[in-house]
Order: sequence, then C-alpha cells, then structure tokens
Amino acid sequence: MNSNSPRRDVPLPQAYRLLNHGPTVLVSARHAGRSNVMAAAWAMPLDFDPPKVTVVIDKNTFTRRLIEASGTFALSVPCRALADATYAAGSLSGADHEDKFAACGLTGFAAQRIDAPLVEGCVAWLECRVIAEPHHQQAYDLFVAEVLAAQADERVFANGRWRADAPAELRTLHHQAGGAFFVAGDTVQAAKPRG
Ligand SMILES: Cc1cc2nc3c(=O)[nH]c(=O)nc-3n(C[C@H](O)[C@H](O)[C@H](O)COP(=O)(O)O)c2cc1C
Repeated sequence: MNSNSPRRDVPLPQAYRLLNHGPTVLVSARHAGRSNVMAAAWAMPLDFDPPKVTVVIDKNTFTRRLIEASGTFALSVPCRALADATYAAGSLSGADHEDKFAACGLTGFAAQRIDAPLVEGCVAWLECRVIAEPHHQQAYDLFVAEVLAAQADERVFANGRWRADAPAELRTLHHQAGGAFFVAGDTVQAAKPRG
C-alpha cells in the first residue's frame, strides 16, 4: 500500500462497525401480558411493496422469546434525547427485569395494527409481522418482517423525507460502539446526474 494513503486494514472482528451506524432502533414485543424492549443496530429495509424489513435478534435476548411467541414486533426509532435509555435497553435484559421499560426509563403506548408497545419519545415507529424464515432465524438470528403500519414525528420526518431542520434533541442515533452514537447531522443534496 502507498504509505501516503490514509487507507488502513481494519481487523475483521471490527468490520461490522464500518456499517454499524444506520439508525439504532428499539425492538419491542408483547406476549401473554409480558412486554419487553431491546436496542438493535442491525435493522434495515428489505423491500418496497409490501414494505419489509430485516432485523437481527440474538437467541439470548428475552425480546426474541416474545417475538417468536407472538409473531409480531415493533421498531421505534429513538432520538438523541433517548440516548441513555437506548443504551440501557441494549445492556439490560428483560430476563432480569420484570418491567424493562421502567428499568430503562421508557414508556410504551398502543400500536395501531399489532399487540406490541411502541416507545414514547421516539421519532418513528414501524409495526411488523414476522415472515417465518426458520433457517435464517436459526442460523443467522435474522428476522424478516412485513411492515403493517408506520408513523413518524412530523418535526423530524415530513413529506417522505427526514428533515434537515429537525431539532437537535430529535435527531436519530447511529451506534459506533460501547454506547457512543453519532447523531444524524447535515443533509447533503447530491447534484442530479446528467444524461
Ligand atoms: C446500541 C446497541 C445496538 C444493539 N444491536 C443489537 C442488534 O442489532 N441485535 C441484537 O440481537 N442485539 C443487539 N444489541 C444487544 C441487545 O440490545 C441486548 O442483548 C439486550 O440486552 C437484549 O435485551 P432483552 O434480553 O431484554 O431482549 C444491541 C445493543 C446496543 C447497546
């Protein structure tokens, strides 16, 4: 490698961090009267119509048990004001906390289409029904789901776009590692390609 180049090898165990900073979400679910919530950085859109998403939900999480039992989950997109609560949701387990929402300082409210709590104070919410893919769930902890309903805070997302003028406290969180997050920042509008 040219010694003047800033390009450096990244150890493979850190390779995921190069893609880790999509918006962190809060995954919530409910079954048999028990609700729970966890943080997930590995969530992404998968399809337009019908809209689908994927999210990685580790076998050791309590949330996964509720998702497998109910077949549904919600993704709530937290913002800067919820950074501490989001990190707590990604550090504590519902296996140890009867009311993990309370343990993390979070509050739930009713979803429109599924029986799972959405998280108060977030800026966007997606209500999802699992599309059973047993092999992917077992081998990769990867859940595919159809989005049945979506809402967003109009101060942050309006006319189909994230707003460049969103208040600082309402900007989304993008996990680096160890509870350090980027906060969504400037919008760069690329020039329209010619031809
Ligand atoms: C910022 C952040 C992102 C995380 N992303 C994921 C993820 O994408 N998938 C996953 O299985 N766990 C992820 N975790 C770990 C879970 O949130 C963690 O294991 C949590 O304690 C599970 O809670 P539960 O047992 O109450 O379900 C993340 C943790 C943090 C702090």
